[in-house]
Formats: sequence, structure tokens, C-alpha cells
Amino acid sequence: MTNIKLSVSKKIPSLRPGVAVVIGVQKTSKGIELAEHTVSTESLNHLDLKALGVTWTAESIARIPGPEGSVFALVGLGAEELDEDILRELAAAATRSLGDFDEIIFDLPTEDERDAVCALEGAILGTYRYHSAFDKPAKAKPKSVVVVSQVAVSATAITRARVMATSVNRVRDLVNTPPNLMFPKSLADLVSADLKDTDLKVTVLDEKELKAGNFGGILAVGQGSSRPPRMVKIEYSPKKAKSHLALVGKGITFDTGGLSLKPPASMVGMKYDMTGAATVFQAVSAIAKLGLAVKVTAFMCVAENMPSGSATRPNDVITIRNGKTVEVLNTDAEGRLVLADGLSAASELEPDMIIDIATLTGAARVALGDRYSAVMGTADAVSAVEAAAFDAGELVWHMPLPSELRSRLDSDVADIANAKIGSTAGGMLLAGVFLREFVGTDKSSAKQQSWAHLDIAGTANNEGSAYGYTPKGATGVALRTLVTVAEGMSR
Ligand code: BES
Ligand code: ZN
Ligand code: ZN
Repeated sequence: MTNIKLSVSKKIPSLRPGVAVVIGVQKTSKGIELAEHTVSTESLNHLDLKALGVTWTAESIARIPGPEGSVFALVGLGAEELDEDILRELAAAATRSLGDFDEIIFDLPTEDERDAVCALEGAILGTYRYHSAFDKPAKAKPKSVVVVSQVAVSATAITRARVMATSVNRVRDLVNTPPNLMFPKSLADLVSADLKDTDLKVTVLDEKELKAGNFGGILAVGQGSSRPPRMVKIEYSPKKAKSHLALVGKGITFDTGGLSLKPPASMVGMKYDMTGAATVFQAVSAIAKLGLAVKVTAFMCVAENMPSGSATRPNDVITIRNGKTVEVLNTDAEGRLVLADGLSAASELEPDMIIDIATLTGAARVALGDRYSAVMGTADAVSAVEAAAFDAGELVWHMPLPSELRSRLDSDVADIANAKIGSTAGGMLLAGVFLREFVGTDKSSAKQQSWAHLDIAGTANNEGSAYGYTPKGATGVALRTLVTVAEGMSR
């Protein structure tokens, strides 16, 4: 967890060199004006702020000398009214650009506890800098973040912000780590080592155990690589659990496409293909750190998709954990094969809800761009994810699972094919329709188990430059949504 000191103070802490005081700049009919603040800004009164480059536009920052050697960072609010989402984004953008300060003081309008902790959460998200997931954490900068606010903020709320943001940053490191270092065994070992002294139970299945457990999807995807696949199961079982949530993550440590090889330009970036697994790993550990009263079982479905003499061929027929057979027509549609095993295993536990998360289809990016994650599944689970995402300030969009698409996956030799050759129509939806086949039915009602599928292929990686709390590269998207779903199930 980040060791940055986080605090909320009614007064302005003492000012000195190395301290930046963030003050908002808003638009008025006369031009610009400083948003409500506590620090004395008398020294600014005689300055022509506009001439000094101060504007109200979002993420603009001007540094002006402040009292006692401190610096005023005048940041544009970019909006008429501040809300918690804007505060999170703004605090992150400010922290990112003030990385050379020891202490950052946010002197911004806050109406309630949520506002204050969103600023703290954003600030930690904004401190993100890449270092390999296998290295010791780097020394954090700034050392201290203070939110100046008159509202009462509980220690629990501050801890929640710290856990959430630190976990997102950890997902980012896991995903950004280069794929020569990040492979199924190294990832599984890292999870075991990380969770060694916690009350989480980690079970790693190696290739022999996967075979014994009939995980035909994970094995088929991993068999072309010299670095064999793993299934990592993480269990959090608090005594007073109110319900049980199962999480399933796609963990392709590198996706070459396999024998259905990707063209060079599409292959770059495929280290991001283990984001789902990294996210469920960090989600369950965040849930445990917060001590939520919900049982969580996370399945990381981890394999490297490589072409070789031992790789799965198009036309091979494999058997998934639940006994269904799949004709592999495109070895690049591998995510759904590993998730099929994961969803089957999760369904066996009959949890109250299953959520899978995956960088599943390029079609997700085509349909929704790179800021909205897609959510599909049963109505109740989709609503729970939508509500949690809204609460967390993350963007999701509900997409359908049209039943008529199922026939496109008909196979002459197996229960289902993994892709429709020669057609890209509704690619994201078709992947969801495939996954649905591996979600179990409730024994008593014979209805499909409660399930949501998140396709984060568009949102997991930010190819552009950093904005708000989103850095360049791995974004850590959806972790806060998953933890928020768990919070809802713990009450
Ligand atoms: N990992 C990719 C999906 C992806 C694409 C993620 C771009 C991030 C950015 C996935 O395994 C894949 O290759 N999907 C295929 C499916 C197709 C063969 C049915 C795709 O989207 O092209
Ligand atoms: Zn693929
Ligand atoms: Zn993939």
C-alpha cells in the first residue's frame, strides 16, 4: 500500500518550500476567479492572473509563488460546479504534474466526506509511475497529501481511498510489466508471495493439475507456449459473509493470436491481455483489506497464447471443464476459451453473483471507444455493475446478448465453435453469447445464474497521453467498480 501520508485538515498546514497549495480556478462572467479556498491569497490580488497563464479549463495548471517559499498551483476546474468525479480527476491531474513536491495541499471546495476522500483517491491515482511488478516499490512522491476541508472525514473513509487507489496502481504495474518477465508461472508465484501473510487462500493449479481438473480451455490456449498455463484461485472467506461473489479474469500474459497469428501492429500491446486476471487479483485483495462481509472467490485464468509445433490448431476440438466441447476455429479467440473454464469452475460454487472481466474483443473498442467498458449479462448483475460503476465514477455501457447470434457458433463436430469465420458483425456480443454457455443454471429455479461480463478491451490500455486519473498505458479500469459491487453485497 502506498505510504503517502493522507490527511484531512480544517486549517492550512504550515507552508514552506516543497509544498504546493492547489486552488481551483473557475469561469465567471468577468473572466476567471479563484474557487472557494481557506489559504490567504492576498499576495495574488495585485497580479494579472490571466497574463500569468491561469485559465479555468480542465487540467490547466499555473504555478505562482506562494507564502513562505511554497507554491500556489492554480488549476482549472473545467466545470461550473465541482462534484466528486471532477475532484477525483482534478486531484489526480494536479498530483501528476506536481510530482516534484514533497507535500500537496488541496484547498478546494468540498461539500461532504465523499468529496474530500475522492480528492485523496484521485491524488494517489495521480502519483502512479511505472515500475516492474517484480521490483520493490519505489519511494513515493509526494510524501504527504492534505485535503483542507471543514467536513468530518472518518479514518475508515481515508483507508478506503488508500486501498482502492493503491490497488488500481498495483494493477497498472502488473499489466505494464513486460511479457518476458510476466508469464503464467511468474504471475502465479507473485500472487502466492504477495498474499502469503494474509488470510486469503491461494491455490495454484499447474499444467498437470489443470489436466486432472479437466480445464481443457486453459490447457488448449497454453499448450503452444514453452511457459505452461496456470489457474490461480484466491479465496476470501470472512466469518460473517452476507453473500458470495465469484470473479473470473482473463489472464493471457501475451496474446500472439497463436497459429491464427496476429499481424505485427495488432500484436503490440498484447501484454495488456492479462488485465482481467490482474484486476480480480487486486479486487479480492482490496476487499480483504477492507474487511468486507462478503465471501469472494477469484479465478485467474492464466496462459500465454503462442504459435508452435505444439499449439492448438484451428479445427481442434477441446473439452471445457463443464463437459461442453468447443471447435477452435480461430486460435486468436482464446480469451473465451480460458474464461469458459473459469466460468464453469465459478458456477460449480453456486455463488450469488459471477462477474468475469476480460480484454476480450477488438470489437469492444470499435463499438465503445476507449473510455466506456461494456457490460453484458443477466439483468440483476448488469444493474449491480452499472450502479457500482456510477458510484465509483467509472464508465460502463450495457450491451445486449442477442440469442439469435448463437447459431453463428454452430459446429458440425462440437457443441459450439469459438468464432464465426469471415464475419466481424457484433463481435463483442458474439463473444458474450459464447461465454453465456458456460455460466451454470441455478439448481432450484433452473434459471441462469446471476452473471455479468465486462469487456475492457477498449479501456484497459490508454494509448494516448494521460488525462485525469488515467495514465498512459495500463489504466487499472473497473477495479473500483468490482470492489464497490462487493461492498453492495456485504450489506
Ligand atoms: N486480446 C484480443 C482482444 C483485444 C484486441 C484486446 C485489441 C485489446 C485490444 C482477443 O484475444 C482477440 O484477439 N480477439 C479477436 C476475436 C476474433 C478472432 C473473433 C478479435 O477481437 O479480433
Ligand atoms: Zn486473441
Ligand atoms: Zn486475447
